[in-house]
Amino acid sequence: MFEEGQYFAPVNTDADGTVVVELGETHPGFADAEYRDRRNAIAALALEWKPGLPMPTVDYTDAEHEIWRLASAELAIKHQALASREYLDGSERLKLPADHIPQLHEVSELLEPLTGFSYMPAAGLVPLREFYGVLADGRFHATQYIRHHSVPLYTPEPDVIHEVIGHANALAAPRFAALYRAAGDAARRVHSEEALEFVSRVFWFTLEFGVISEGDGLKAYGAGICSSYGEIDEFRDMTILPLDLVTMGTIDYDITHYQDKLFDAGSMDRLEDVVGEFWENCDDDAIERLKADAA
Ligand SMILES: [Fe+2]
Repeated sequence: MFEEGQYFAPVNTDADGTVVVELGETHPGFADAEYRDRRNAIAALALEWKPGLPMPTVDYTDAEHEIWRLASAELAIKHQALASREYLDGSERLKLPADHIPQLHEVSELLEPLTGFSYMPAAGLVPLREFYGVLADGRFHATQYIRHHSVPLYTPEPDVIHEVIGHANALAAPRFAALYRAAGDAARRVHSEEALEFVSRVFWFTLEFGVISEGDGLKAYGAGICSSYGEIDEFRDMTILPLDLVTMGTIDYDITHYQDKLFDAGSMDRLEDVVGEFWENCDDDAIERLKADAA
């Protein structure tokens, strides 16, 4: 079963309206009351937001900006060596700030002229159909909190570094942006939860954790790898499988650890031919046939 929910800390609203982010005991910020308050306040901002209102602005502290500065600088070095050409082209076009955490409206202002994508706030997990569906409209849900300062290069959940450095650099590249939109179209087209799960697993193994062979070796383009200081160093040691829809759509995986099976797209053309074409045309019946062929 696809359980992206375990990836995000649950967000609850108490009877008196207080928003509480339920961090697990192993979370680096679990015992830090100040961090917990911060997380609750940032989640509340996202929950209060409604379409049509200005994007919520987070009053980031200098300590939070410092985490961004560090992660941003370290990841930029890794990207030069290990990120795919298309991803690097996106980051060169986008020019994210390295000296401060950008607000979501700032990310949108950089991104919209390039590929039409804009960001919207998420408190935590967004239901899959909604998360993927709005990609078809060029909208991307993003959390705004940042990881705990004790581990600036690690996060157990998708924070603003993942959402912006990982995804926006890819969304700034037209060929990736078209794939994100196609995933959104597919999510809106399919009806059953099983078909939606298949679509989202293919997204997971491509736009989150995809790798691609280039002239000078295997490179990463997935946002999950490109935003993870540890994972980007290790992906070449994982089991690399050829791009295959049925395997991606049905393979078991554990999102709480580094992905040990990754799929090599081979080339951007092949990624578009196999995955783009699938998202552009799939429906419940086509997905059922694919699964039946694999059984
Ligand atoms: Fe992501």
